[in-house]
Amino acid sequence: MFLTQLQCAACGKQHDWQRLQNLCIACGKPLFAIVDLNAAGKEISREKMAKRRRSLWRYRELLPLPKDAEPISLGEGGTPLLRSKKFGAESDVDLWIKDESVNPTQSFKARGMSVAVSMAKYLGAIKLAAPSAGNAGGALAAYAARAGLEAHIFMPRDTPRANIIECREVGAHVTLIDGLITDCGAEIAKRKEKEGWFDLSTLKEPYRIEGKKTLGYEIAEQLAWKLPDVILYPTGGGTGLIGMWKAFDEMETLGWIDDKRPRMISVQATGCAPIVRAFEVGEKFADEFPDAHTVASGLRVPKAIGDFLMLDILRKSNGGAITVDDEEMIRAVREVGSKEGLFVAPEGAACFVALKKARASGQIGDGERVVIFNTGSGIKYLECFRSE
Ligand SMILES: Cc1ncc(COP(=O)(O)O)c(C=O)c1O
Ligand SMILES: [Zn+2]
Repeated sequence: MFLTQLQCAACGKQHDWQRLQNLCIACGKPLFAIVDLNAAGKEISREKMAKRRRSLWRYRELLPLPKDAEPISLGEGGTPLLRSKKFGAESDVDLWIKDESVNPTQSFKARGMSVAVSMAKYLGAIKLAAPSAGNAGGALAAYAARAGLEAHIFMPRDTPRANIIECREVGAHVTLIDGLITDCGAEIAKRKEKEGWFDLSTLKEPYRIEGKKTLGYEIAEQLAWKLPDVILYPTGGGTGLIGMWKAFDEMETLGWIDDKRPRMISVQATGCAPIVRAFEVGEKFADEFPDAHTVASGLRVPKAIGDFLMLDILRKSNGGAITVDDEEMIRAVREVGSKEGLFVAPEGAACFVALKKARASGQIGDGERVVIFNTGSGIKYLECFRSE
């Protein structure tokens, strides 16, 4: 195990990884896990890894869990990177789709929860709590059950039914709140000390991001260690975007990729676009987005603690930020479904609309290699579709 310490992403203060940690004790910002890449690079190589099972745990030396601890796993990661059949040709780009809907609990949230629940259990947590827009709750519930830990999940009352039912059926304690994910988070913050809950909110503990960084390792591996020109990513709390960027830096240090980075484009819903708005006006932090609403529940995050990290990545990568409205997303679900054979989540569909917009504006050029993340499955969002 090559984890050496936890370091604040804002002020750099170091924290001990050997006990449960949430935010930086000095400034209240997120902590990142720092891996000794020099040492890890002596044990793991691209060739060695290629022989391992398709799972995010094939990057074991780069993940935080100590060697002697058994991961809490349901078969997460190792998802296909599919060459787009029609959509790419019609858009005149070299389009690839990272299909995260085949993960346990049908979304990329499984990656973060596998690693975070493994670490929380290892470090002695017994009761886990998280606010969720939907898919994170389902993943936490499943991994907590697998680990024999309690899960306490707070969701907005209007979260898609499938997510709520799934959490309950895999044994979680579910509380529905009349409000948004931020209100759910506030409720946990208020009660966690008394209840003995360990808070697994997005970026409020350091290891969900470690699971998400494997998205970055996987696409590099699947594209023969050459990153694409552009990544389109549906952004809520930002763990995917931030995790991938961390992976890119780590892989460069390991000597696995060069210094070329994709242009990272954040895709948000018109009804909840705090990052797009802050990006456009040049702000370092994003104000809370008022009256947040969208059917893409994973994008209904009006205020994210990692806002400054996302904005920094979009700017550093020379990327961008695009909004898509709900009607466009829902229409795109059927278009992608019939063209590619994938029943994508509205969040994933939003990226296909964003691709068209970026092509029309010239932000993405002819023939560029583009990776779209379909972060979840349409099957969780049946309320959004007509059945006749
Ligand atoms: C399907 C889906 N896509 C995207 C997101 C956004 O996630 P993040 O920005 O934290 O990576 C979520 C979050 O709930 C989600 O459920
Ligand atoms: Zn700090």
